[in-house]
Amino acid sequence: MNVDGKPIRPIWLDEDGVSVKVIDQRQLPHRFVVADLKTVDQVIHAIREMFVRGAPLIGVTGAYGVMIAAAQARDAADVLVSVQEECVRLRAARPTAVNLAWGVDRVLDRVMSAGPGESLIAIARDEASAIAEEEAENCRLIGVHGAALIEAISRQRGGGTVNILTHCNAGWLACIEYGTATAPIYEAFNRGVKVHVWVDETRPLNQGARLTAWELGKHGVPHTVITDNAGGHLMQHGRVDLVIVGTDRSTHTGDVANKIGTYLKALAARDNGIPFYVALPSSTFDWTMRDGVREIPIEERNPDEVRYIQGLYDGNLVRVLVPPENSPAADFAFDVTPARLVTGFITERGICGASQAEIHELFPEHE
Ligand code: MRU
Repeated sequence: MNVDGKPIRPIWLDEDGVSVKVIDQRQLPHRFVVADLKTVDQVIHAIREMFVRGAPLIGVTGAYGVMIAAAQARDAADVLVSVQEECVRLRAARPTAVNLAWGVDRVLDRVMSAGPGESLIAIARDEASAIAEEEAENCRLIGVHGAALIEAISRQRGGGTVNILTHCNAGWLACIEYGTATAPIYEAFNRGVKVHVWVDETRPLNQGARLTAWELGKHGVPHTVITDNAGGHLMQHGRVDLVIVGTDRSTHTGDVANKIGTYLKALAARDNGIPFYVALPSSTFDWTMRDGVREIPIEERNPDEVRYIQGLYDGNLVRVLVPPENSPAADFAFDVTPARLVTGFITERGICGASQAEIHELFPEHE
């Protein structure tokens, strides 16, 4: 996507061919800082501390992490064992987004099946880059399929503005290009459909207020940042036509893990008869889990993320304490929305209902 006229992605291969550069998303929207990831420790730190975040992007970062592990292992006694050990650490960097293990394992499988004399680094680099390109294309297709939904609502409204609510950041910053939840919005906007986006601020780390609002603003898409609790009120008053969110892991039975607070939006949408769609590339389906509430691991993060809030003050990025100094806090990063509350999935292969039968009809190879 373009930022101030220049094409940019949240991750790219460095000129040295054995490391990557990423946008340090912790500092957006007030600072645009690029970080170098040259070691596996740096990759793990960047994923944990959320320089990079969002399921598809974590998957691609983990994939490049295998390339970095292969480069680091050049002098190891047993290169393959060393790479395998680093992959265990990479996979464990964050627990909820299934794309991380998926990306790491896909590259590791290629490395493990390398022929004699083949460069492990080159194999890992090519596979990680292929994943990045595929995810970009998947998101483009999600945009094409999802834009049809927005266009249909626009037609019903006689060409009037379609109001879409989204939670967290499932934009290009969380993916590689276009985003998942935002891809249909960008596509509809580019086709000339009038859209307006309600952007949940998404406490505690404010990915909505900081990142989604920044992305949409850079693309010229009309939007309004709202508190996380405002959605239900807006729905009751007919001011939301459609909800589109992303997901970090969805079971093949249709349960959806996404940023904490998504479940409450789905409940409010159901109560108000508003369609609630989840946009995802197939890399975010977990083909092994059936019961999202019981089985999907929910990350608990440092409670300081709840206690403190970051913003710009006098030209500096500062953190301020909100609750009483001694009040305990807890930071649950995701929740699970049961399939029964999901109107449908927008995938790279088209749109389907949130049921095992319909998901497998689109992806029969996972039967
Ligand atoms: O904790 P994060 O920022 O990595 O969470 C990821 C998200 O932004 C979402 O939950 C998102 O909707 C799914 S990723 C496209």
